[in-house]
Amino acid sequence: MRAETAPVPDQPVRHARTRPNRRLLAAVLIAALCVLLIGLTVAVIAFVAGRAADDAAVASVAAAQAPPPVSQLPVPTLEQSPVSADICSRPAVVSALEAGDDTAAIEAAGGAEWFRIAVAGGDAPCIDLADPTRLWVVINKTRQYDPVDYWPADLMFPDGVRSLEGGSLRADASAALTAMVTAARDAGVGEIALMSGFRSFPSQMATYGRHVDSRGTEGADLVSARPGYSEHQSGLAGDVVPCAGPCGTLDDLAASAQGEWVAAHSWEYGWIARYAEGSTDVTGYLPEPWHLRYIGPELARAYHDGGWKTLEEFFGLPPAPTYVG
Ligand code: DAL
Ligand code: ZN
Repeated sequence: MRAETAPVPDQPVRHARTRPNRRLLAAVLIAALCVLLIGLTVAVIAFVAGRAADDAAVASVAAAQAPPPVSQLPVPTLEQSPVSADICSRPAVVSALEAGDDTAAIEAAGGAEWFRIAVAGGDAPCIDLADPTRLWVVINKTRQYDPVDYWPADLMFPDGVRSLEGGSLRADASAALTAMVTAARDAGVGEIALMSGFRSFPSQMATYGRHVDSRGTEGADLVSARPGYSEHQSGLAGDVVPCAGPCGTLDDLAASAQGEWVAAHSWEYGWIARYAEGSTDVTGYLPEPWHLRYIGPELARAYHDGGWKTLEEFFGLPPAPTYVG
């Protein structure tokens, strides 16, 4: 019987050895898990931070590659010009001028803004703002045509544009008006027609005369140019009107959908509104939102982006509110 209750001699000894080993194993496992978790967390943080840094680097490279709009560029000085302060010393400018390629001349000058800066700064003697054959000609009350009865060589009727008084335009301006009128129609704003394009010296004499008859000389001079002083004689100006079936008048343009669209988009096709609100002291004329002047897409973009209101200020010319003499 004693033998039945006698203790097994080595059982307590075995228990005493195994308990500490399991605790140790558990502690090691927990520690390993912790290390693993910390490692994973660090790796995830590093990955996310790396992606963010990559994205930022890509964004900054993209930003560096995309040219900002001209309006956001600092005002450049001639010394910073990518070409030369003296654009007229550049063979590419000279040869483009000789070839009558105004667009190429502007490009060779480093673009429209550099071209403008050189001209406005008086540093471009080869650019003649009085030459009526050039996109950059400036005609106003102090700048008469030379010759006074100048007549453009390449007049044509714009394709696909209703021309109410049979108005024509110079070839480039004509194509640009077609493009603008087509874009307006495609944008859903309706039809734009050409009321009046090129007007010869004799034709302007009749137009101005009618205004004098109805308003007197002082009144006429605010709305109509004297013969020899009208932009219409250059073939680079057009008066546009809105149409919805029948066409409206010049005065109807501003409040129409077409007028709103023209004010916002005509520059994209090389046109500027020549006689702007608040500029009578410079131009000598009351506002004429319908009177568009073609200066080409490059100069028109610089004009628009620079927020210019008159061609006189754009090219650094003095105001021309009245006739000289
Ligand atoms: N209405 C503009 C000023 C012109 O007669 O040319
Ligand atoms: Zn006009």
